[in-house]
Amino acid sequence: MRTVIHMEPEDDFRPVLRMIESDIGIQSSNYKEDYLKRRVQSRMRMNEVHTYRDYLLLLRGNPPEQEALKNGLTINVTKFWRDPPVFDAIRRDIIPELRRRKKAIRIWSAGCATGEEPYTVAIIAHETSIMNKDLKFTIFASDIDEEALMKAKEGVYHKKALENLSNAQVRRHFTERTDGKFEVKPHLRGYVRFSRHDLMSGIPVTSHLDMVLCRNVTIYFTEHQKDELARMVAPALTAGGHYVIGKTEYLSRDFERLYEPVNQMQKIYRKRA
Ligand SMILES: C[S@@+](CC[C@H](N)C(=O)[O-])C[C@H]1O[C@@H](n2cnc3c(N)ncnc32)[C@H](O)[C@@H]1O
Repeated sequence: MRTVIHMEPEDDFRPVLRMIESDIGIQSSNYKEDYLKRRVQSRMRMNEVHTYRDYLLLLRGNPPEQEALKNGLTINVTKFWRDPPVFDAIRRDIIPELRRRKKAIRIWSAGCATGEEPYTVAIIAHETSIMNKDLKFTIFASDIDEEALMKAKEGVYHKKALENLSNAQVRRHFTERTDGKFEVKPHLRGYVRFSRHDLMSGIPVTSHLDMVLCRNVTIYFTEHQKDELARMVAPALTAGGHYVIGKTEYLSRDFERLYEPVNQMQKIYRKRA
């Protein structure tokens, strides 16, 4: 059932706008007010809050909700090595474990937006393969948004998107163009297969996956849709395969029989045997 949001005359949106500027760090004048209201109202529905005043109270001193609203306002926003501890954990803990028992590793970046996430995984794959020549990685990357996918295939980025990478990684994996942008080198492109795919279709892009990253995608999904997604991913994973979700996302308790946490903090789960 949809939550009704009451627009009382005294329920002023301006304090929310000020909060978006000061605490979330988004220049609200860059967006139409209607657009901002729609996004804020979507978060209000998710939280079952009915007035801007109550939402503001919820937002104050609540970093996870601030992050969720930020994601909602900047729907395609992503960057290389977004949330560094997650990708550090994947590189340090998950990939070595997979490497010990597999020769071909298959990974799906579901909701890949403009490609920074699958190319980040490709960087990890490439750096792992240097020491393990017989290892093969395939990275499937999908999104519902054709425009985002086109940019992903182009693989050309502003410097800001690369700020979590080391200088050595930038030099190794990108070519700096004359317009100051950075283009991913062919060796990274070679790992990634892009396709358009709707995560609500109930069907995965492929199967026998060793890891599925579905991060910062489900902000507009209902609880039911989130559950359906987690249910759809499980059979596509190999035994012991990993499911990685966003820092502000969560798996409902019903899924404890399907997935066990490997790194609770970084929201990395493993399919149970
Ligand atoms: C904020 S981006 C996340 C990008 C990346 N996963 C990350 O964490 O940086 C969210 C992406 O989810 C995609 N998305 C939203 N609903 C989707 C759906 N039903 N199926 C596939 N992709 C979807 C959007 O198009 C958007 O590109």
